[in-house]
Amino acid sequence: MLEGAAKTTFSLLAGSPTLRRLAHRYGMRREESFARRFIAGETIEEAIHAARALEREHLAISLDYLGEPVSSSAAAAEATRTYLAFIGEVQRAGIGRNISVSLTQLGIDVDRATSIDNLRRVLDAAAKAGVFVRIAMERSTQVEQTLEAFETLWNIGYHNGGVVIPSYLHRSAADVRRVNALGASVRLVKGSYDEPRNVAFRHRHEIDASFVDLMKVLLQHGTQPAIATHDPAMIAATTAFAAAQGIGKDRYEFQMLYGIRRDLQISVAAEGYQCRVRVPFGRDWFPYFMRRLGERPANLGTVVKSILKERR
Ligand code: FDA
Repeated sequence: MLEGAAKTTFSLLAGSPTLRRLAHRYGMRREESFARRFIAGETIEEAIHAARALEREHLAISLDYLGEPVSSSAAAAEATRTYLAFIGEVQRAGIGRNISVSLTQLGIDVDRATSIDNLRRVLDAAAKAGVFVRIAMERSTQVEQTLEAFETLWNIGYHNGGVVIPSYLHRSAADVRRVNALGASVRLVKGSYDEPRNVAFRHRHEIDASFVDLMKVLLQHGTQPAIATHDPAMIAATTAFAAAQGIGKDRYEFQMLYGIRRDLQISVAAEGYQCRVRVPFGRDWFPYFMRRLGERPANLGTVVKSILKERR
């Protein structure tokens, strides 16, 4: 399957230190460098600048700090401090109060209890600053731990967060019911990791059919779901279903990624739907960038052109 093969190839390439070095050398250094299409910059100031530009175009934002997955409790504590500082910057900047976090940065692969406590600190600081925290969904092997961490904190009163459920996983229908039962918000995505066929659908038509099924359950029974896609067919299915069910535009939102289908972002917002753009930034942007290439290998042409131009 072509799409699956591209994801596998780019996921393997993402592990190459040489490619990472090359990407860091050329990817960000100028305004027109290739990685800037998908990543707002390496610093919080650049991310805030990008967020303000989007807000001027009537788009909502969610800032996403791209940090390293950590392999020690000390590094997880350091990443947690970075998130706390980041929340303060978002509050001071006066931009939309919405961020995304990754549990691998907070230590989920190191020690479950410590990572839950780190997430609690992030949610606590975010609640005080009026910031909503979306917990990203990473590989299928981390789904159960991520949902458990979220539920644990939800059940002790941290309600300023939500999770992400990918439609490519076989387990996701049950997970959507589980999060709906809490009354928490789900961001529905197709899923971007290279997953084996025993846990995930690999064919586009199956992933799309699952997306539409889950979207319907979320719109009918969920809490402020975010339908995160650039696929016009998924967007049309959502607006048609909502209209047929009498579900108002204020009961859900669309979300898209920085640098992808800007035309669609603007037109969805112009039609009166809330459209939120996830704005990634940070020094460790290479794995995120490779996932975007794996989704659409045609992007590689732009990268090669940009590198050739920079070397001249
Ligand atoms: P699809 O892949 O079918 O693309 C539809 C159209 O969008 C394409 O035809 C093309 O025009 C455009 N497009 C899509 N990707 C492109 C690219 N890389 N470059 C250029 N054009 C592109 N995944 C995950 O596993 N965990 C997560 O936590 C998140 N979080 C998340 C947040 C938000 C706000 C979004 C929008 C997406 C995610 N994702 C994610 C990524 C998601 O799983 C998925 O990989 C991408 O959104 C691409 O899928 P689409 O639904 O856009 O459909």
